[in-house]
Amino acid sequence: MRFSATLVLILAAASAAKTHNSHPHRHHRRANSTSHSVISSAWFAGWHVADFPLDQVSWSKYTHMTYAFAITTPKPSVISLESSDQQLLPQFVATARKRGVKASLSIGGWTGSRYFSPSVGSTQNRTAFVTAVTDLVQQYSLDGIEFDWEYPGLQGIGCNVVNPDDTSNFLTFLKELRSTSTGQGLVLSAAVYTKPFADTTGQPSAKLSEFSQVLDYITIMNYDTKSTPSSGAGPDAPLDDSCAPSGSQFGSAKSSVSAWTSAGIPANQIVLGVPAYGHSFVIPPSAALSGQSTNGNETLSLYPAYTANNTRKGDRWDGDGGIDVCGNPVGPGGVYTYWGLIDEGYLNADGTIPEGIDSDFDNCSQTPFLYNQNKQIYISYDNAESFTIKGNFVNVTGLAGFAMWEAGGDYKDVLLDSISAF
Ligand SMILES: *[C@@H]1O[C@H](CO)[C@@H](O)[C@H](O)[C@H]1NC(C)=O
Ligand SMILES: *[C@@H]1O[C@H](CO)[C@@H](O)[C@H](O)[C@H]1NC(C)=O
Ligand SMILES: *[C@@H]1O[C@H](CO)[C@@H](O)[C@H](O)[C@H]1NC(C)=O
Ligand SMILES: *[C@@H]1O[C@H](CO)[C@@H](O)[C@H](O)[C@H]1NC(C)=O
Ligand SMILES: *[C@@H]1O[C@H](CO)[C@@H](O)[C@H](O)[C@H]1NC(C)=O
Ligand SMILES: *[C@@H]1O[C@H](CO)[C@@H](O)[C@H](O)[C@H]1NC(C)=O
Repeated sequence: MRFSATLVLILAAASAAKTHNSHPHRHHRRANSTSHSVISSAWFAGWHVADFPLDQVSWSKYTHMTYAFAITTPKPSVISLESSDQQLLPQFVATARKRGVKASLSIGGWTGSRYFSPSVGSTQNRTAFVTAVTDLVQQYSLDGIEFDWEYPGLQGIGCNVVNPDDTSNFLTFLKELRSTSTGQGLVLSAAVYTKPFADTTGQPSAKLSEFSQVLDYITIMNYDTKSTPSSGAGPDAPLDDSCAPSGSQFGSAKSSVSAWTSAGIPANQIVLGVPAYGHSFVIPPSAALSGQSTNGNETLSLYPAYTANNTRKGDRWDGDGGIDVCGNPVGPGGVYTYWGLIDEGYLNADGTIPEGIDSDFDNCSQTPFLYNQNKQIYISYDNAESFTIKGNFVNVTGLAGFAMWEAGGDYKDVLLDSISAF
C-alpha cells in the first residue's frame, strides 16, 4: 500500500541525500535538521513576509514548510489565492526546494473554509475540486497540499456551509485526488481539530482509518484551546488536561492523540501542531493572582474568570479586529507571538521573566503563564520549557513530528530548537 510504503521511505531516508525530481513523494528525506522527528515543519504566513522574509526561515532545521493560505470559493472549480500570494508562492516553493524542504500549500484555514462542504458535496463538484487542486499543484510545482478544513461536519467561523456527510464526502474526495497521476505523488495532509472528524450526528467519528490510507499525515492543531469566561482562561496549548479542573478540560495533546489513534489514525501519521504564540486576557489582580507566594513571588491562578469580548490588541502582528468574513464584528485577537512577548516586555530576550511580571508554570498543561498587574494582562503561552516537553512527547509517543504556527513567531529559534531536541 502506498502510504505505509511512503512512511517506510520517510523512515529509511533519514541520511539520504536530498534530490528533487518528478516524483518528490518518493523522496521524503530529512533536511539537515537537528530534530529526530521525521517531520519538522511550520507554516509560513504569506501576509507576514515584509517582517519575516523567506531568507529568515531556518530552512536547515525543517523538513516541510506549509504556505498559508489558499481559500475555498463558492465554485468547486476555483481555489482562490490573493494576488500577493500568487507573486510570493513561486519564490516560497523555489526557496524551499533549494534548501531541501518540502513545499506545501494549505487550503482553508479559519476564514477560508466556508465552501469545503459544497466543493466535496457531489460527484460532479468533487471532480471539479480535484482538478482545481491538481491545477494549483502543477502551476506552482508544489510538493504537497494541506487541507485545513475547520471543520468537516461542524461549524467553524459561523458561516461555513456544513453538511452531515462532510466527513465521508471529504474521504471520497481525497480518494479521487489520490487516484490522479498528480495526486499520487503529493504529500497530502490535513490540519485537524483536537477531536476526530465528526460523524453524521456531529459526534467525533470512531471510524477514520481510511483517512490514513489517503493522507500521509494529519496535523492536530493543539492550540487556541477553548476556554469560557466562567471556566477560566486556562492554557493555550495544554499537553494534558486530565489533571485540569473538571469544567476546564477542552482537549490537549495527550487526549487528542489518544482520540485520533482510537479513531484509526496511527501515531506515526500524526504531527503535533504547536504554537509560537500566546493568548492574552484582561483580568484584574484579584482573579489573576492566587494569593499564594513562592519565594516571595506571587503565583498565578490557572483558570481565572474573565469577561467575554474584552480583549486588547496583542503584539504588532495582532489584528485590531473588525468585521469577519461572515459579516460579524470581532475584537482584537489578543495574540502575542513569542518574539512579541519579548518586544512588549513580558519576557527578557533570554526567556527569563522581567521585573514587574508575575509568572507561573502549570504542571498539568505543562505550559507557562505571565501576568502584568499594571496592565491587567494575563497570558497563556509556550516557551522553551513547554516546547522541550512537547518535543519529548512527540518522541516518546512515536508521532511523526511537529508543525509550528508560525515559523515567523519564534525568536532566534528558541522554540524550534527546544522542540527539535529529541
Ligand atoms: C548541517 O548544517 C550544519 C550547520 O547548519 C553544517 O555545519 C553541517 O555540515 C550540515 N550537515 C550536513 C550533513 O549537511
Ligand atoms: C455543488 O456546487 C454548486 C456550486 O457550483 C453548489 O451550488 C452545490 O450546492 C454543490 N452541491 C452540493 C451537493 O454540495
Ligand atoms: C521571583 O521571580 C523572578 C523572575 O522569575 C526571579 O528572578 C526571582 O529570583 C524570584 N524571586 C525569588 C525570591 O525567588
Ligand atoms: C460576545 O461576542 C459573541 C460573538 O462574537 C456574541 O455572540 C456575544 O453576544 C458577545 N457577548 C457580549 C457580552 O457582548
Ligand atoms: C502538580 O503539582 C502539585 C503540587 O505540587 C501536585 O500535587 C500534583 O500532583 C502535580 N500534578 C502533576 C500532573 O504533576
Ligand atoms: C526519539 O529520540 C531518539 C534520540 O533522542 C531517537 O533515536 C529516536 O529515533 C526518536 N524516536 C522517534 C519515534 O522519533
